[in-house]
Amino acid sequence: MVMQPLYKIWMDGELVPWDEARVHVLTHSLHYGLAVFEGIRCYATPRGSAVFRLKEHVDRLFDSAHIAAMHIPYDRPVLSGAILDTVRANRVPACYIRPLIYFGYGRMGIDNRKCPVNVCIAAWGWGAYLGEDAEAQGIRVRVSSYTRNHVNINMTHAKITGNYANSQMAKREAVDDGYHEALMLDPDGFVAEGTGENIFAYRGGVVRTPPIQGILPGITRDAVLRIVRDMGVPVSEERLSRDEIYCSDEIFLTGTAAEITPVREVDRRKIGAGRPGDLTRRVQEVFRAATMGEDARYTAWNTYLAPDGKSVENVSGPARDTAPHGTPQDVGSPQRLSPEAPAAPRQSRERVPHVPRSARDIGDDRHASAPHCS
Ligand SMILES: Cc1ncc(COP(=O)(O)O)c(C=O)c1O
Repeated sequence: MVMQPLYKIWMDGELVPWDEARVHVLTHSLHYGLAVFEGIRCYATPRGSAVFRLKEHVDRLFDSAHIAAMHIPYDRPVLSGAILDTVRANRVPACYIRPLIYFGYGRMGIDNRKCPVNVCIAAWGWGAYLGEDAEAQGIRVRVSSYTRNHVNINMTHAKITGNYANSQMAKREAVDDGYHEALMLDPDGFVAEGTGENIFAYRGGVVRTPPIQGILPGITRDAVLRIVRDMGVPVSEERLSRDEIYCSDEIFLTGTAAEITPVREVDRRKIGAGRPGDLTRRVQEVFRAATMGEDARYTAWNTYLAPDGKSVENVSGPARDTAPHGTPQDVGSPQRLSPEAPAAPRQSRERVPHVPRSARDIGDDRHASAPHCS
């Protein structure tokens, strides 16, 4: 996907012009691969733009940070509000949203305890992740020669940037070999997930998906489990072998970027009739309706950006971080940002040396009292 610049990126409490959203080359996370992030979609619904499952994404971001022992210097309502503000500031009805929490500039070495923690949120247009025809025709997948991360080597429940080194190698191998995506097996040889998606298999009237241990707990996976149960189709979270995948009637991948993508072939073996099956089609349709706010059963999953650009009721909250166990943190003053002024053309500015925004945080051992996963 080629990046098309938009207007603003949220960096440590302020919306900065797109071209000025820079970091120093000695940013810690750039060197050692530990940062946590989210991928969220905002949909253009008949009632206006709505972020899909905002709360779940923000909760997973905090879980990822907790697992990585990074303290996010904002609380959940502030970050949720910042996500919505970022979408508004970029004036796109539908987009992909990328919050990233990273260790910033100021210290080097593997010991990250005293590194500043920086936060940015970007949004951009992102269409069909696995290609224009993917959702209609289904994709071709190969089992990767790379094993998925082991639960005790990389933390699979955390969306840590470094985990995606493994994903990138598998993806590249698959694409170089003429496939759309890689299917990764866990260290015991059972099916884990795609490089950026969870997997579902349907056979004999039962939908199966690998258990949550050892994979990223996908928010789309969770939505699909609910949708399939609501359809009255039996679901089982269980280990799946490679040959069970080959012999499935239907396979589909799920993810925020990939949405519901049917798989028509694995390792040159046709899946079912070699085209998206009926169950997959039904799941795609209900999922689409849910993202559009058109299915009354799932409307709690949509957080609307009010059409007038004013604040959204379920995300306003305290503007200051409260540390775990109620200890106040000296993290500056993250503030809710007011809605953006009317559209102005993007200006390109001269390069300016980056001054770490959180320089005052360098040396702040703020993770000493660790938060708990929600
Ligand atoms: C490795 C991996 N598995 C699964 C998923 C699907 O997760 P979600 O549905 O929350 O996007 C993703 C995408 O975030 C991913 O990167």
